[in-house]
This record gives sequence, structure tokens and C-alpha cells, in this order.
Amino acid sequence: MAIDVTPLFQPLCVRGKTLRNRIVMPPMVVLHGLTRPSGIEWYARRARGGAALVIIESTAANRFVSELTAENLKPLVEGIHHYGALAAIQLSPITRGSRVSPADLDRQQIESIVCHYRIAAQTCVEAGFDGVEPHGAHGYLLNQFFSPEQNRRADEYGGDLENRMRLALRIVREIRPILGPHRLLLYRHTPVGPGYGIAESVTLAKRLVAEGVDILDISPSSIEAPGDRAAPFRGLGAPVIAVNNLDDPGRAVEALAAGRADLIAVGRGLIADPEWPNKVREGRLGEVVACIQCDQGCHGNLDRGEPVACTQWPKGE
Ligand SMILES: Cc1cc2nc3c(=O)[nH]c(=O)nc-3n(C[C@H](O)[C@H](O)[C@H](O)COP(=O)(O)O)c2cc1C
Ligand code: SF4
Repeated sequence: MAIDVTPLFQPLCVRGKTLRNRIVMPPMVVLHGLTRPSGIEWYARRARGGAALVIIESTAANRFVSELTAENLKPLVEGIHHYGALAAIQLSPITRGSRVSPADLDRQQIESIVCHYRIAAQTCVEAGFDGVEPHGAHGYLLNQFFSPEQNRRADEYGGDLENRMRLALRIVREIRPILGPHRLLLYRHTPVGPGYGIAESVTLAKRLVAEGVDILDISPSSIEAPGDRAAPFRGLGAPVIAVNNLDDPGRAVEALAAGRADLIAVGRGLIADPEWPNKVREGRLGEVVACIQCDQGCHGNLDRGEPVACTQWPKGE
């Protein structure tokens, strides 16, 4: 039976920005380079394929101090805009691969992280990004601050829930005014983690929204977790992105139609086939190059330090 994909292609207006449909490319480190032609082309290809919002991969906020500038990021943003998608970028508190835990940071280092977020946000505004997303998910540093098992600090950044939320809330409070009234602030969070569950995460989400977060990107870190754990976060005042194995159009439509999410992120599905949104919209479901979840070309290449590709997409775009 043909699937009615209409819910996936309803526009959504957030803070005056129009997402042309409900399909988001979630942040994925692809190692093609943000300022190199191969990286610019890689991201533009996902915009050309029809996604509404392309979120650039996790990028350390300290890279914006000198390496990443408004000028050298503009081609990346323009490449995405050229094909009618919005461009956001995920910002991480520390360099990818560095093994820093909350207990390792002194006050000065925490202040540096906040400062780097301010610099990164300002640069992103000048580069023309439509939004930024602090990376608070998947057991990385900001997520560790939230976890009572991973955050053993004895100061105001550790201990009770209020303290464990403090760094995330500070970051969004500092960058919200930098983004101004017309740019999106997203936040990625993992809803269940070491020592915390949905209830604590909903408390965080409410506070993030109160500080001006526009879109809640709810990402279970385990690939076994259901893709639509986003449901408890709906109704908090910000649209919710669901992710994880939602590249099956039927599942994606069902999550929207059942009211469990406002937006659907398709990660590996867009590595496997950047044309996924266009093909689904046009009813060409049989032409979609399906992700077979082998994790060889994407995660495998990433683990080897090589640019991400897909075993199923021979063109390597
Ligand atoms: C190669 C690769 C790199 C990823 N890099 C990031 C990242 O930088 N930040 C992040 O929050 N998630 C990252 N993820 C997770 C994805 O954003 C997404 O949550 C995950 O792939 C599940 O969605 P899917 O089942 O549609 O692929 C990455 C995933 C892959 C496959
Ligand atoms: S390499 Fe495998 S898991 Fe990764 S996107 Fe391609 S088919 Fe999916």
C-alpha cells in the first residue's frame, strides 16, 4: 500500500524561519572539511537532495577563535542555502577526541568554554548560519555534566540537578542574545543516560526552552533505542526532532502523524542517499538507496580517520 507522505512535507515556521519540510540532516562528523571544496559539496549535496535543515557536524567551539572564520565558512553556508535548505552547525565544548571529564576542568577552563561558545556563535552569525546547536548529547562533555554518575564535581557545576544543568543553561543564555531574534538555537540532548531518565531530561528541556532554545533535538545515543523517544518532550514550547533509524518513510510519517515529533532527522539514510527527501516526496520510494546499517563506510571510515562514505552509494557524493 502506498504511504501518504504528506506529513513529512508540511512546512514548519520557527522563529520566522521556514523549514520547507520536516526532514533534518542531523550533525554527523564526515571529515570532508568545512572549508574545503569536498566538504562544501558534501553538505550542499544533502541540501540539493531536499532536506529542510542541514546541521553541520560537531565542531569544537575553540576552532572559531582563529581557524574557522566568517569568511572561510561562508561558502559552506551559501552552498546549503543555494539549494533552499537552512544551515545550522553543532558546537561542542571541546576538541573532538579529547578525553576531558567534568572533574578535570577548573573554573578558568569552564569560563574558557563559555567564551569559546560566544566567539563561535558570533562567527556563525557573521557567516550566515540560520542556527547553532550546542552538543549536549551522547555522553560527551556537556552530557556528562548532566549525569549524576559522570559529574562528581563538588562546586556549583556538580551535585543536584540545578547544578548539573548550570553549564548548559549558561551556554544557551550567553549565546541566545548573540544569535539575535531571527536565528535558531537548537540543543541536542540524550533523553536517558547514566543516573538520569526522562523526568530529569524534561526538566532540562523546559529550562532550555525558557532560556530561548527554539528546537529540542532529542537523540538517544544507542542505536538500539527507539527513534521516537522524543514524545515526552513535545508540548514544552519548542518543536522536537526525533532521530534514530527513521529513514524508513513509513516510520518517519507515523512518528509525525502520531504526534511524537515535529521533525524527523535522517542521518545515515542521507549518507546512503542524499536524494532521500526528493525521492520520498515524489513517491519514488523504490529508488531510495537504503542504508543497510552496516556502519562500515560511515562509522568505519570515521574510526579510521577517513572521510565518511557509504558502501551503498557508489557515487561517493
Ligand atoms: C558518521 C557519523 C557521524 C556522527 N557524528 C555526530 C556528531 O557529530 N554529532 C552528533 O550529535 N551525532 C553524530 N552522529 C549521530 C547522528 O547524528 C544520528 O543521531 C545517528 O546516526 C542516528 O540517526 P540515524 O539512525 O538516522 O543514522 C553521527 C553519526 C554518524 C553515522
Ligand atoms: S555505510 Fe552502511 S551504515 Fe553507513 S550509511 Fe552506508 S549503508 Fe548505512
